[in-house]
Amino acid sequence: MVLKILSVVGARPNFMKIAAICEAINVVNSVGASERIHHVLVHTGQHYDTNMSDSFFNDLEIPKPDLCLGVGSGTHSVQTARIMERFESVVLNEQPHVVLVVGDVNSTAACALVAKKTWCRGNEGSTGFIPKLAHVEAGLRSFDRTMPEEINRIVTDSISDYLFTTEESANQNLLREGIPENRIFFVGNVMIDTLLRHRSKAQESTILQDLQLADGREVKPYAILTLHRPGNVDDKQVLAPMLNAFLYVSRHLPVVFPAHPRTLKRIQDEDLGDYFVDHFVQGPEPWDSRVRIRLIPPLGYLDFLRLLSEARVALTDSGGIQEEATIFGVPCITLRDNTERPVTVECGTNVLVGSDPEKIIREFDRLSLSGKKSNRSPLYWDGNAAKRIIKVLIDDCFPEG
Ligand code: UD1
Repeated sequence: MVLKILSVVGARPNFMKIAAICEAINVVNSVGASERIHHVLVHTGQHYDTNMSDSFFNDLEIPKPDLCLGVGSGTHSVQTARIMERFESVVLNEQPHVVLVVGDVNSTAACALVAKKTWCRGNEGSTGFIPKLAHVEAGLRSFDRTMPEEINRIVTDSISDYLFTTEESANQNLLREGIPENRIFFVGNVMIDTLLRHRSKAQESTILQDLQLADGREVKPYAILTLHRPGNVDDKQVLAPMLNAFLYVSRHLPVVFPAHPRTLKRIQDEDLGDYFVDHFVQGPEPWDSRVRIRLIPPLGYLDFLRLLSEARVALTDSGGIQEEATIFGVPCITLRDNTERPVTVECGTNVLVGSDPEKIIREFDRLSLSGKKSNRSPLYWDGNAAKRIIKVLIDDCFPEG
């Protein structure tokens, strides 16, 4: 029997996760004479700009998606509904044994719902079935239900058959929510599989030279900033004071800011351009004046990894960057009041400051004085999470081995 897995990607943070899954499936299929897993990759098109999507497929050598649903942007309900409508016919046509979703974006929850609501007729003579649902990165909880991702996580986990977790807190959250223990698999972090696999390739990136942050082999100190959560960028009363705090940081260290399209739009709409210098449009002029935030377009995976790995400090509201900074031992100031990834705080690299400018400045001052780096890795963040996931799925499908 061949196990048919239909995997879903939609938005930027999904791509590095699915890259590890694709790789693990290739390894399994390369052993023995015949294919054990038939893998179909679906891209919903939630993210569609080249630098938010295609560049990741290239950098990470992810196979071209078998199907693209082209849903694009919209309100949460419109986007979710569009994905569901288009994904339903994919499931009906493909009849997968397992639908595999990753992370917590709208594509994750939308496709999870479809998977568990679609009755596949099966081949002639066989009985019909509902596909099994596998959620990679299950159990994370910020306990903040105003975050769209938290709703996506709760919905997806509540109907999943296989819940693959990255840290112990996730196991505890799921058990507390009444998920049977035999559905929970503590496998580690597929995003870190991809980081470890691409770490040395990222060394070849010229991004530090392109940004005048390196002279030969010597790297100058700098900070990296990312910001895109609606709670931080949608309201000018929140965003502008944060930008003042980043200006303070920029007087001590150049602040490089690869801006998400959502954030860029807010900056333009709210007329906040004076806080920034556009590195590639206005030129790299005088880096040393350090009075404004250095705006650059969203980066590809390898460039971003290189930039993060050498940063003196990261300021971010992303979930994944908290994890990547943990592995690089880069101090991370998280611009949120909570994190669904508490292990990144326990390992000593991550501090939560929310959007309060005074806290941002205080934490930056403390970190730049201490220059502290930590290299503690959470359990199972060892490059083998995807292999463990595929083994669980195969063992369940081929119990005889
Ligand atoms: C989504 C995820 C978020 C994740 C983030 C990473 C949800 C609920 N949120 O947020 O968890 O951290 O991706 O980037 O799924 N846009 C473009 N080009 C693109 C994609 C988006 O210009 O390729 C613009 C559009 O104006 C769009 C806006 O960005 O309306 C927001 O995109 P959307 O997919 O709704 O959510 P993100 O903020 O990207």
